[in-house]
Amino acid sequence: MINVAVLGYGTVGSGVVEVIETNKALLNQRVGQELNVKYILDLRDFPGDPYENKVVHDFETIVNDSEINVICEVMGGVGAAYAFTKQALEKGISVCTSNKELVAKHGAELLELAKANKCSYLFEASVGGGIPIIRPLNTALTAEKIEAIIGILNGTTNYMLTKMEREGADYAEVLKEAQEKGYAERNPEADVEGHDACRKIAIVSSLMMGKNVDSEKIVTEGITKVTAADFVYAKAADSSIKLLAQSKAVGDGEVLAMVAPFMIGKEHPLAMVNDVFNAVFVTGNMLGDSMYYGKGAGKLPTASAVVADVVDCAKSLGTSLPCFWEKEEVKLADVAEVEWKYFLRVSADAKEAVEAAFPGGEMITVAERTEDFGYITTVMKEKDFAAKCAGLGDKVLSKIRLA
Ligand code: HSE
Repeated sequence: MINVAVLGYGTVGSGVVEVIETNKALLNQRVGQELNVKYILDLRDFPGDPYENKVVHDFETIVNDSEINVICEVMGGVGAAYAFTKQALEKGISVCTSNKELVAKHGAELLELAKANKCSYLFEASVGGGIPIIRPLNTALTAEKIEAIIGILNGTTNYMLTKMEREGADYAEVLKEAQEKGYAERNPEADVEGHDACRKIAIVSSLMMGKNVDSEKIVTEGITKVTAADFVYAKAADSSIKLLAQSKAVGDGEVLAMVAPFMIGKEHPLAMVNDVFNAVFVTGNMLGDSMYYGKGAGKLPTASAVVADVVDCAKSLGTSLPCFWEKEEVKLADVAEVEWKYFLRVSADAKEAVEAAFPGGEMITVAERTEDFGYITTVMKEKDFAAKCAGLGDKVLSKIRLA
């Protein structure tokens, strides 16, 4: 029998128990023995819950039980979750997690600890919810030199942007709906300000480079400044607006990493990724492009990825599943030097000023909007664009990069 403990009985934790219960026969067959949820750690009690007698309030009960083989850390945060994960790995107990914050911050260290103690630290659910992306990067794509990863990595904001685009819906209203559906983080600021996508791109960038990409150094902008009016112009330009997380290997071992809203042409594969779906577009030097697509948030998709990791751990007890992510820091390229085109939404009275500041660009006008106009610049460096925008002051109402 493989005994599992689940740390945190919230949305993902209850999903892990549900996946194990629902697919019990199949999972037991795949593991080759019975998979048993022995403990659930939570501060709360759950009277009337079918698993109420498994609930414990003390991690020591779990980590000191020699029958425990695998721990699912789905409690989130980098405090207790970090301490518990270290304690478990030091004892040779494998840990599977959906906790992207912890993986982004301490992934390299925890992998090293797992290796030293002949157990595994797996985190498929930490990026893209139910989409298999960590495993492909660790196994199927190991013959590739990965050149770029670009993804829609946050289900909440993609759900929100999709609703804003399709229904002209109000920002606050769509955020509430995403929270009700269980997509959003406890503090939705992590979603809407781009921090969640930033942690996820830091994780896959670290796997791409085999070295640590520090999430705190990644330039990150959220969706809070994207308006319904921007979508009117995006539609006129046959484009969509998506929160993209991207990472590109540039120069001598450097990485250009960034999270921000981008305007992308409707023909781009990522423009077709809607609602809570996520997608990760990976470019390898031999394979070329490949895309991984699926439900990026929600109880059961995320839990399914955690349980898949449990199965892998259960089948490889006493060994450490390999993952190439060393502690050495990757140098991040200077975003100020990067070149893109930009979309601007500008007050109607500033047409001449915009054309003078950004010669050769393209005007977008929409009959129903008389108070402003859209403008797409030619390709230019971030630093030059910022300087010119500063000269236009409050005439610039929105700015969005073009991917
Ligand atoms: N809040 C996250 C999202 C959950 O919306 O993508 C999954 O990581």
